[in-house]
Amino acid sequence: MSDESTPRDASGERETDCELVGIVAVADNGIIGKDGEMPWHLPEDLAHFKETTMDHPVVMGRVTYEGILEALGEPLPGRTTVVVTSRDLETPENAVVANDLEAALERAETAARERHDGADRIFIAGGASVYEQFLSALDRLIVTEIHDEPAGDTSFPDWNRAEFREVDRDEHDGFAFVEYVRSG
Ligand SMILES: NC(=O)c1ccc[n+]([C@@H]2O[C@H](COP(=O)([O-])OP(=O)(O)OC[C@H]3O[C@@H](n4cnc5c(N)ncnc54)[C@H](OP(=O)(O)O)[C@@H]3O)[C@@H](O)[C@H]2O)c1
Repeated sequence: MSDESTPRDASGERETDCELVGIVAVADNGIIGKDGEMPWHLPEDLAHFKETTMDHPVVMGRVTYEGILEALGEPLPGRTTVVVTSRDLETPENAVVANDLEAALERAETAARERHDGADRIFIAGGASVYEQFLSALDRLIVTEIHDEPAGDTSFPDWNRAEFREVDRDEHDGFAFVEYVRSG
């Protein structure tokens, strides 16, 4: 994608004061999704996602948003969901629509300030298309590494691990919670 459409301005400065944090669960073979859902059932990961993102803005693509609506019957409780879409969607009170990445960051910053008591993180929660477009702007990446190779139709985009350093790893049975911070 072109430089103009990444969420940084021409001088390379990010257009938000919040830390941009990617959060994803990814299998050893790179798979993150299957038929619009996650290809595993891992309650510990759902609890980790909830605890990490609670009371923050969470940016996601329309397909991921619709998957959550189908599963929960509502957007993520306790958070503001910023849905990136070219469509004119009607959303409940705790979700807002953004038609491009810049608008998504602007809406997320407004929500951080006005609805989440000045939260200093914006979470980028997928899916693949949204991760890909925000990758170059992420300050931090919180990854649940799933030690499995499931079938699926959606993969996490290639990312340059040399640009990040691992700062935390919490191994569990079959998966690990890992945190990476941009190093340069
Ligand atoms: N394992 C994980 O942690 C994780 C996390 C999230 C999602 N997932 C999985 O990932 C899969 C979905 O990923 P996906 O890549 O297919 O879909 P997605 O990123 O969730 O949504 C894609 C949609 O977002 C909108 N969009 C993206 N970039 C845009 C832009 N710059 N401007 C305007 N609209 C934009 C478009 O919506 P319109 O078509 O409405 O314009 C596009 O069709 C699912 O299987 C889901 O379960 C996994």
